[in-house]
Amino acid sequence: MISFSNVTKQHKGAPKPALDAVSLEIERGDFVFLVGASGSGKSTLLRLMLREEIASRGDLFVLGQNLVTIPSRKVPALRRKMGVVFQDFRLLPNKTVFQNVAFSLEVIGKSSAYIADAVPEVLRLVGLEEKADRLPNELSGGEQQRVALARAIVNKPDLLLADEPTGNLDPATSAGIVSLLEKINQNGTTIVMATHDVGIVDRLKRRVIELRGGVIVRDDKKSGYETALPITDQVPISSDTEPEQGNEPEQANEPEQGNEPESRISSTDQAEEQE
Ligand SMILES: Nc1ncnc2c1ncn2[C@@H]1O[C@H](COP(=O)(O)OP(=O)(O)OP(=O)(O)O)[C@@H](O)[C@H]1O
Ligand SMILES: [Mg+2]
Repeated sequence: MISFSNVTKQHKGAPKPALDAVSLEIERGDFVFLVGASGSGKSTLLRLMLREEIASRGDLFVLGQNLVTIPSRKVPALRRKMGVVFQDFRLLPNKTVFQNVAFSLEVIGKSSAYIADAVPEVLRLVGLEEKADRLPNELSGGEQQRVALARAIVNKPDLLLADEPTGNLDPATSAGIVSLLEKINQNGTTIVMATHDVGIVDRLKRRVIELRGGVIVRDDKKSGYETALPITDQVPISSDTEPEQGNEPEQANEPEQGNEPESRISSTDQAEEQE
């Protein structure tokens, strides 16, 4: 479903690449966490998959398309198969909850009959059916994030890309968002989520890809957040595609909460990304 092969992203004028010869495969139905310190390349990886940025070198396939050679006119059709959620919600302030979600269907030409069915259904899924007529500024942060999630999934995307979707939320609300993501994943949507949230990553025991300085330093099938262990210390993985096994890798012994990793540095890059 997603294949990076020696992908490098070098921004003009930057001293070193944001991503440096990254190779990875993500299968249909996977739920993958992207972790790593601020500036390690997580958002860049997501933006490349969205084709908001173009790789400088290497091969990148997403949903059967070669993103290096895809003509621009084909990008919108590709993006329609993807949902995106950002940390800062990006809701339309003058539209209600219903209209915010409906808008993403209108722009792709869905009929009003379809919209009238699909929007309430997805609002029910995220627990906001009662608040369909509210404006974003009449909602809590967690509620706004659920609207953003509803908007991202209403078109039943094959792939959901989430860039720190719980970054501004308290732990309980974050847990709610993550349960929703799990539900969406169970319904068949592949999810790639960049996060700094140690608690979530440790609890879910999903595949974790850790970036450091634009390089993958860890790719564990079922793991916690912290410590890129030396290769020799890692739990042997007999079959790469094997799902849940019940055996915890050693590094999942991290304390559950309270201690923030060094990487939880608030981003200074973020402002530049918001385009
Ligand atoms: N448009 C750009 N031009 C130049 N350098 C950039 C650009 N976008 C990102 N970078 C650099 O690329 C590196 C990776 O940035 P990226 O936004 O992917 O990091 P991140 O892991 O998402 O960080 P954070 O956790 O803070 O969101 C950083 O060093 C950043 O400064
Ligand atoms: Mg980022």
